[in-house]
Amino acid sequence: MEFLKYSDDYRDKVNAVILPVFEDGMPKETEKFNSKTKIVENARKSGFTGKKGESFEMFDPSLGRKVVLIGLGRKKECDNETIRRAYSSSFSSVKSLPKGVVQVILPGNSQDDETREAVFAISLAAYDFDRYRGEKSKINVQKFLVSTKSPPSVILEAKVVADAINYTRDIANLPPSVGTPTYFEKEAKKIPGLTVKVFDREDFIRLGMGGLEGVSRAAKEAAKLIIVEYGPRDRKPTLIVGKGITFDSGGISIKPSEGMDEMKFDKCGASAVLGTMKLISEIKMNRHVIGIMPLTENLPGGNAYKPGDILTHYNGVTSEVLSTDAEGRLVLADALSYGVKNFKPAEVIDLATLTGACVVALGNNYAGLMGNDAKLKERIVESSKRSWERVWELPLDGDFQEQIKSKVADIKNTGGREGGAETAAAFLSRFVGNTPWVHIDIAGTAWTHKNTTHQSYLPPGATGYGVRLLYEFLKGN
Ligand code: BES
Ligand code: MN
Ligand code: ZN
Repeated sequence: MEFLKYSDDYRDKVNAVILPVFEDGMPKETEKFNSKTKIVENARKSGFTGKKGESFEMFDPSLGRKVVLIGLGRKKECDNETIRRAYSSSFSSVKSLPKGVVQVILPGNSQDDETREAVFAISLAAYDFDRYRGEKSKINVQKFLVSTKSPPSVILEAKVVADAINYTRDIANLPPSVGTPTYFEKEAKKIPGLTVKVFDREDFIRLGMGGLEGVSRAAKEAAKLIIVEYGPRDRKPTLIVGKGITFDSGGISIKPSEGMDEMKFDKCGASAVLGTMKLISEIKMNRHVIGIMPLTENLPGGNAYKPGDILTHYNGVTSEVLSTDAEGRLVLADALSYGVKNFKPAEVIDLATLTGACVVALGNNYAGLMGNDAKLKERIVESSKRSWERVWELPLDGDFQEQIKSKVADIKNTGGREGGAETAAAFLSRFVGNTPWVHIDIAGTAWTHKNTTHQSYLPPGATGYGVRLLYEFLKGN
């Protein structure tokens, strides 16, 4: 699938048009089509009102094309998310057109934004994890021609970001016996422009990474801490860290079997970090960025780490294991403290499918945002407004530290049911020192089970949450 700027040279090749319509009128460009064919009036007669979420398909014999009308709601309320929802939902109407060449008409209020978001949303809607399915996703459409005054670079940017998100989805969706730490290593080494360093279990022991050592003790797949570096070294780096539990069974504190398959998504943080590194390297962004991915499966076994064990982390802090299912914070502890000590980053951002409590608190549309630095949190909130990967701040003051005090070690790895997302963050805070740091709990946003009809750009499975957020952050700050 290709995205290009429309020009009249394509006029005879076009076999479908996507036309936006408001509830209270229609964009100028749509009017041009409508003046000849009265297509909008006809649709309105059949009940199409132009409300958000509505669409209407017909074949227009006078144009010799399929026409897909998409509702954008009221003119004044048409924002970027309206564009993403409407254009991504139109994809299913044109995807099977043989040799499809689709002209995309925009509402025309804010060219760059609309161009970017439409291309972005259509590319994301086209994603389907079909590699293990006999019946493949049938996409016949070939070209989307966007009628826009924006330069082609706007189209290109949207496409390259969407591709990175789809790349991230591909890794995160992999079955747990395929999407292993070794798989991540191979992928990382394929990306041009990155320096890749890999630590294995022997290194965990040698370096004193007790969290990674403990969690990976009963892993069958070789555990790894992968560090990827990109960009000019003259500036302090931004450190991005992603939880990479390639399968979380809970370990000895084993999870109920129902829904355990979803714990293949416990590597979504690391997948987003790798996808972001690939993206910034591809576009040669002028930023120094280091990505760290602690990767291991969390399995039970005769040699597994146990509740009651005490682990010593990279920075010397000891933690009492109360639940082997609270493993994410244990591996992140080593990744964070290693990163902070050895790279002296300007700031640290971690992404982790860390707690069920965060899902209970915020649901599936908001990630939990916590951290130790108001300015950095604000920058994340600003980036989140641009990416529409929504975040909601949860509190993280000193009182949460009380809840994770241990009688036999410095801290314990669970603080009980109350405030589960916050006590997990309080745990992590012990491994970043004074470095500005934010933690983004993506347990609710990293994957979706449903066909979200209102957000067709999020097909079932891994969402790739975090890639655009990090991209907007790195680009804009
Ligand atoms: N990976 C899970 C968190 C999770 C659960 C993400 C459900 C998405 C959906 C994490 O490792 C975990 O098991 N956390 C425990 C922590 C508890 C034992 C303190 C949880 O949330 O139940
Ligand atoms: Mn767990
Ligand atoms: Zn986990």
